[in-house]
Amino acid sequence: MTITIKDPEGIAGMRIAGRLTAELLDYLAPFVKPGITTNELDRLAEAYTTQVLGAISAPLNYAPGGHDPYPKSICTSINHQVCHGIPNDKPLKKGDIINVDVTLIKDGWHGDSSRMYMVGEVSVAARRLCKLTYEAMWKGIMKVREGAYLGDIGHAIQSFSEGHGLSVVREYCGHGIGRNFHEDPQVLHYGKPGTLDQLKAGMTITIEPMLNVGRKDIKELGDGWTIVTKDHSLSAQWEHTVLVTPTGYEVLTLSAHSPAIPDFVQPAMPAVTLSVP
Ligand code: MF3
Ligand code: CO
Ligand code: CO
Repeated sequence: MTITIKDPEGIAGMRIAGRLTAELLDYLAPFVKPGITTNELDRLAEAYTTQVLGAISAPLNYAPGGHDPYPKSICTSINHQVCHGIPNDKPLKKGDIINVDVTLIKDGWHGDSSRMYMVGEVSVAARRLCKLTYEAMWKGIMKVREGAYLGDIGHAIQSFSEGHGLSVVREYCGHGIGRNFHEDPQVLHYGKPGTLDQLKAGMTITIEPMLNVGRKDIKELGDGWTIVTKDHSLSAQWEHTVLVTPTGYEVLTLSAHSPAIPDFVQPAMPAVTLSVP
């Protein structure tokens, strides 16, 4: 799979897919409460995607090389689960943290985003992990612009995360996205500035760091999908789909109820103050 550059028509398609993806996460938010099962969230997501958004759930039956087809419409990864958790009939309980990762296809274009939700009151450590992982994603997003290196993104995420004592999962990464769910390039969440490929305007990529409270090591469960931390420490992830522009970036998976953008994120074009003579 090669890197694709989106023309204006492709960018328009990606903007729509991205916004609908974010709206699906908005829709699910109020349902994430103690007692609901992840299968119920999955059914709500599937119905909203198809019946309200007029879109298709990309994960359902997705079968990248060597994997069994993914059996559900969303991924739900709870506590020590890192990613690709499969919805089931176990109710969420107060104190859980859960990543809901949704990907939809609208008019052939993909949007991919995930958020953390806290189930009732959660521990200080869990809240801190969710907040820092969100900030780490934005540290990566802020590096995006034409000419920047993929290594700049990875380094920004890794140095911020490790600076706060969190470890970065290595085996899973962000990716190009467009007419395909997963396209080149791979977007590593660790690395060195000035290394790897340079970004070009019109590329669309995801940035989706997975951070662990404990060690970075992971393992796959027997279901062939669910990834957990080897030491069973808490893990969190956030994901946005981002367009590379000549001067910076445009986050495509934003909506009315997206969580507030961190204060340290400066707009690509600072506001101009006009003085009246
Ligand atoms: N949404 C995930 C990502 O961000 C991929 C999930 S693959 C699935 O890339 F098959 F588990 F859905
Ligand atoms: Co993704
Ligand atoms: Co995703």
